[in-house]
Amino acid sequence: MTTLLLLPGDGIGPEVTAQAARIAKALTPDITLDERDFGGISFDRHGAPITDEAVAAAIAADAVLMGAVGGPKWAGVARQSRPEAGLLRLRKEMQVFANLRPALCFDALADASSLKRELVAGLDIMIVRELTGGVYFGEPRGIETLPDGQRRGFDTQVYTTSEIERVSRVAFELARGRRNKVHSAEKSNVMESGLLWREVVTDLHKREYADVQLEHILADNAAMQLVRAPTQFDVLLTDNLFGDILSDAAAQLTGSLGMLPSAALGEAGRPGLYEPIHGSAPDIAGQGVANPLAAILSFEMALRWSLNRPAEADRLYRAVETALANGARTRDLGGQLSTVEMGDAVLAAL
Ligand code: NAD
Ligand code: IPM
Ligand code: MN
Repeated sequence: MTTLLLLPGDGIGPEVTAQAARIAKALTPDITLDERDFGGISFDRHGAPITDEAVAAAIAADAVLMGAVGGPKWAGVARQSRPEAGLLRLRKEMQVFANLRPALCFDALADASSLKRELVAGLDIMIVRELTGGVYFGEPRGIETLPDGQRRGFDTQVYTTSEIERVSRVAFELARGRRNKVHSAEKSNVMESGLLWREVVTDLHKREYADVQLEHILADNAAMQLVRAPTQFDVLLTDNLFGDILSDAAAQLTGSLGMLPSAALGEAGRPGLYEPIHGSAPDIAGQGVANPLAAILSFEMALRWSLNRPAEADRLYRAVETALANGARTRDLGGQLSTVEMGDAVLAAL
């Protein structure tokens, strides 16, 4: 039995996940769908943003598809009980250290990008974001009060050789199946962890991946290059924090943040965690207008990377392409369709 665990979450999370679930039922009826509370709703019902039982269910599933978590309702909750803390715990416990965030511009959407069509046509970037280390998890962290009464907030950016090496390996392997080019982005000019990052990537490249073209790029320049000439990138390898920021920027190149899926992967044989890169979008939650394509394409990635259903993944990908080519557009893409109607359009194309 193959199980896909759904963690719809908060805000637009349940709205977009419902569309992915409809498609899963139609396309792969043999896959069992299970579901747990996650994020703010889990905090409200169970007192924690994710329960031990839900973590265990995620680890036991073949793949996990989440919507989004968080929102203003939980802004005042203690850090460790916030929805976002639940997401970090889930990523850590699932050991999904490599986050694949493909920024792909569908032909039909080249005019929906905030950049000119000629800059984004054919865009196909694979961002590989380190996901279980760096400043998101580094200790010590906290807010303390100094003797003079000021407060001091601090975080720790930290990476070990093996953490850098395993995610870099994923980037190099992916590049070999694509256009064979990796840009590694860090701030080795100011950060020690950035310097180590550059050294480890360079060593691994020399030892095992000399056939892949490697370029080191400072993360600020990478941000600029992404909006200047984005098609120069093939695989963009970077750390947890820079990857978070660069992937939001890359998303908008494709037309909307509501388009970008992601796959978080660990060692072979472990379940992957699939999630749109967007958040719970409190500004439009409850209106039924969110774009479900990032969620639907996250399911497509689950079919490909965890569930071993490449043919169904191809079919779903083509259905999304067809729906867009036929003019299906939610509001963020300049159209009028509701979330459910976009789901209808993809199902019709399937
Ligand atoms: P956001 O991604 O939720 O929204 C940013 C903007 O993009 C908003 O204007 C929103 O309406 C729009 N948008 C996002 N997804 C869309 C979609 N599918 N269709 C149409 N428009 C869409 O980011 P934010 O507002 O900074 O964060 C809101 C909350 O979500 C915060 O609590 C944040 O921590 C959380 N968050 C969660 C995740 C996650 O669960 N993976 C990711 C990012 C942010
Ligand atoms: C993302 C989100 C998360 C992150 C938050 C909600 C913890 O922004 O997945 O991009 O920063 O990783
Ligand atoms: Mn983010």
